[in-house]
Amino acid sequence: MHVIAFISGKGGVGKTTMAANVAVALAQRQKRVLLIDLDPQNAQRFHLGMDPEEIAGLVREGIKLTSIFESPFGVSFIPFGRVSEPELEEFESQLKFNPHWLDQGLRSLGADIFDYVVLDTPPGPSVFLRQALEAANKAMVVLLADAASFATIDKISSLVEQYTADRSDFAGAYLLINQMPLNGKLGHQVRTALYANYADHLVPASVHRDARVSQALAFERPVLQYEPGCKASLDIQYVAEWLLNSTET
Ligand SMILES: Nc1ncnc2c1ncn2[C@@H]1O[C@H](COP(=O)(O)OP(=O)(O)O)[C@@H](O)[C@H]1O
Ligand SMILES: [Mg+2]
Repeated sequence: MHVIAFISGKGGVGKTTMAANVAVALAQRQKRVLLIDLDPQNAQRFHLGMDPEEIAGLVREGIKLTSIFESPFGVSFIPFGRVSEPELEEFESQLKFNPHWLDQGLRSLGADIFDYVVLDTPPGPSVFLRQALEAANKAMVVLLADAASFATIDKISSLVEQYTADRSDFAGAYLLINQMPLNGKLGHQVRTALYANYADHLVPASVHRDARVSQALAFERPVLQYEPGCKASLDIQYVAEWLLNSTET
């Protein structure tokens, strides 16, 4: 079981979109994939077209076989769930008290039941980020090709170091540029600057900005299924291939 956490310093960069679609891409390669939404926004479900009323979710049920929903796209899924403010506060203090809650929950499922676990998180520091990093074997730091994202890298990298320092089974954090502009120089300049600073930790493909991505969301499905041949879908397939190759060799 290989755990991949999608994280970011800034919101709105595409973590949820990338987590959903990479999970689907891995499932398309015959991997058994569990996607877990660790973000109180509870928005991952929109990418998987699931009925929000149908399932209790992570907060109420925890990580159990009975809290897993089989999405129509080949990915097993645990939504965050719709919870009240007091329930959320209670959950957060539980997570604060035990930073390994998620890790323990995943282990309790058994090591063999899933090949990959994909975690979606809220932006910036939070108890959810910590849980994700304590359980992850790899982190994907999603960012945009702009100065604001660039400025968040050191902060998020130091959080990654802090929470994974004593773990020999953590393979590192990798930068994934999303919403790369198709035209113009700026995106390439940022990519070049990132490469100069973080060469070994830059995912060797960016995901381009593509209107199909938001259209797919409007239809409550992953873009890989909505428009498999579009630019963003092909980019995501490449990222999934890279992940597979980097975890299976
Ligand atoms: N490659 C892309 N091209 C175009 N739009 C994108 C792309 N990736 C994400 N988006 C859009 O950006 C918005 C934020 O994405 P989301 O995955 O919710 O970000 P986050 O989880 O980091 O807050 C959504 O409306 C999504 O459809
Ligand atoms: Mg999100």
